[in-house]
Amino acid sequence: MNAVGKKFNHSFNYEYALVGAAAIDKTGSPLPDETLIKCKASDAVLFGAIGDPKYDNDPSARVRPEQGLLAMRSELGLYANVRPVTTFPSLLDRSPLKREILDGVDILMVRELTGGIYFGKPQGRSEDGKTAYDSCVYSKFEIERVVRLACEYALKRKGKVTVVDKANVLATSRLWRETSKEIVHDYPGIEMDFLFVDNAAMQLIQNPGRFDVIVTENMFGDILSDEASVITGSLGLLPSASIGSSTSVFEPVHGSYPQAAGKNIANPLGTILSAAMLLETGLNLTGESEALKRAVEKSLEAGMVTEDLDRSNPCSTNMVGDWISEYILHN
Ligand code: IPM
Ligand code: MG
Repeated sequence: MNAVGKKFNHSFNYEYALVGAAAIDKTGSPLPDETLIKCKASDAVLFGAIGDPKYDNDPSARVRPEQGLLAMRSELGLYANVRPVTTFPSLLDRSPLKREILDGVDILMVRELTGGIYFGKPQGRSEDGKTAYDSCVYSKFEIERVVRLACEYALKRKGKVTVVDKANVLATSRLWRETSKEIVHDYPGIEMDFLFVDNAAMQLIQNPGRFDVIVTENMFGDILSDEASVITGSLGLLPSASIGSSTSVFEPVHGSYPQAAGKNIANPLGTILSAAMLLETGLNLTGESEALKRAVEKSLEAGMVTEDLDRSNPCSTNMVGDWISEYILHN
């Protein structure tokens, strides 16, 4: 960000705040008020990764790092998570899929983020503790705004939107389908199709090139976006944006990597590309974002990569970051 600022004559002001495991350790809360206040007062948020192994082994712990993330989504009204899934030519051989299947894959996953089974009430246990329930709830309004966002994105891409649901079983999915069909009338340039989620999971592996923009509800999107993120073979490189009514949040798709703490080996590209999305979507600085993305591509071509991408001759995290900063400043 500093290199981009220097090159393009901006000065960015940073505030730092805790969330997740680090925030619980220090304050007892996964999303301290101070953090939320700072987020709301900012133009954009760059989010690290949350989670710590000491919480993973106890899914029933009363206070958990994930609560910080879910509270942040809800408090900031982040109703859509947007994940571009693109291939990098120099990394195609790392994909679990055959090269010919991946040719030209360029997908934008749009996941609804503040509704559905993640937030639906009632949720809980019966009195005797022997029955548990979650509720999947969607209003037309919640569906409409995220489907519209997907259509807007598609207009700038190949113009195709695939709505993923389970309308053969779920009432909420039938409302998704009905609402999407109404909305697409407002977008004459858009071609919309519908897939059941099980079929979509299969086609993402078999024929990922058929997709342009995918839009789906919260839980289906959680699952499919992880699936989509590994087919390109470069989970460590993928950025995401969570967009809402006020401040947007930008974060790498990968989780925290506690095994690497202090070793200077983690791949910084997911975060750097999230900063590129922040420049473009959060601050409307398109040229700046392009310059950053170009520098990342060049670093890959030059083989300036961390050990997850090159075991035999790896660079440290700092080396990759410094190389990219230098490239931006001098090109
Ligand atoms: C994600 C994560 C979160 C989710 C977890 C950590 C609560 O898997 O961002 O996809 O399920 O939304
Ligand atoms: Mg997930």
